[in-house]
Amino acid sequence: MPGKKRDSLEPVKWKNGVLEAIDQTKLPGRIVYVRMRTVDQVCSAIRSMKVRGAPLIGVVGGYGLALAAMTIRSSDLNQARSQLRKCADSLISTRPTGVNLRWAVERVFKASSRAMSVGSLGGGLLKEADMILREELESAHKIGSFGAALIEDGDTVLTHCNAGSLATAGYGTALAVVRSAVEDGKNVSVIATETRPLLQGSRLTAFELSRDGIPVRVICDSAAAQLMAQGMVDKVVVGADRILGTGHVTNKIGTLQIALGAKFFGVPFYVAAPVSTLDLVSDVSRVVIEERDQREVLLIGGRRFSPRNVGALNPAFDITPPELVTGIVTDRGVVGQPLAENIRAMFS
Ligand code: MRU
Repeated sequence: MPGKKRDSLEPVKWKNGVLEAIDQTKLPGRIVYVRMRTVDQVCSAIRSMKVRGAPLIGVVGGYGLALAAMTIRSSDLNQARSQLRKCADSLISTRPTGVNLRWAVERVFKASSRAMSVGSLGGGLLKEADMILREELESAHKIGSFGAALIEDGDTVLTHCNAGSLATAGYGTALAVVRSAVEDGKNVSVIATETRPLLQGSRLTAFELSRDGIPVRVICDSAAAQLMAQGMVDKVVVGADRILGTGHVTNKIGTLQIALGAKFFGVPFYVAAPVSTLDLVSDVSRVVIEERDQREVLLIGGRRFSPRNVGALNPAFDITPPELVTGIVTDRGVVGQPLAENIRAMFS
């Protein structure tokens, strides 16, 4: 990407018939690639959050289906496609909330209808998956360019979870906005919420930004409103796992309370996401919020801090209503209020 340099991580790559992705459970300690040769290995990497972040799991899911196509035994094209359908459904079910996974897997599955023989399935699907990877990387840079215009020299940006290179094909969404503003010569510093329970903010966002020399400080999730009250946050920029036609934004649990605080204290609240995160058909009542294992909340570093007889709730995402969102930065431009009307105008 001309002129864009701050993109030092390669979260996913296809190398000699193997899908490789950075194992994010090992960060920030070590950069280790998980190697996947089968669709089951891909499902397991997504489920265990070795790979995570909505756009990235879309890309990885797409390659997962290509891997499935390469290992199909049947010589009958219809049978092969019905086996592929099952693999597509397994991939999609690994993480139900984000929409990019379904979008990418369905797009790669659709490529199977263009195959003339079982032998050509693998190559055709791989081509589609490669194309998704390239497009998502380009989208990230476009999001960065559109979003950078919203950031002023000297701004402190608060972000939640990790919407950086590690959540995408590279460069990020929310962090693309920051990276691009820095490349434009602006002084920008970041406040990263730690993002309990899996610490995507303190482990991944802080890792990425410090690697790129962008000033970053980590806070407890519960400190966000106090910092806004003290005037220490100029803008909030977060990513998204699903954005509805109404402008409702599904993102990492904790986003909603940051958006409420931002509204109360008059801090602009931006969401950055590629068009592949848009879901223009679902109603808000149909969005499934993934409920993850209680142990992620109850255990910290393998040690239990709550009494043995106490359980936990662990919703992984929340939904921010459109009235709390100042604007959505997409790869096609910034969508402002009224969100529903402008989303319709821009994307229908
Ligand atoms: O559970 P995760 O880590 O996959 O959740 C990730 C997020 O919520 C990100 O903010 C979102 O996927 C946007 S990433 C560009």
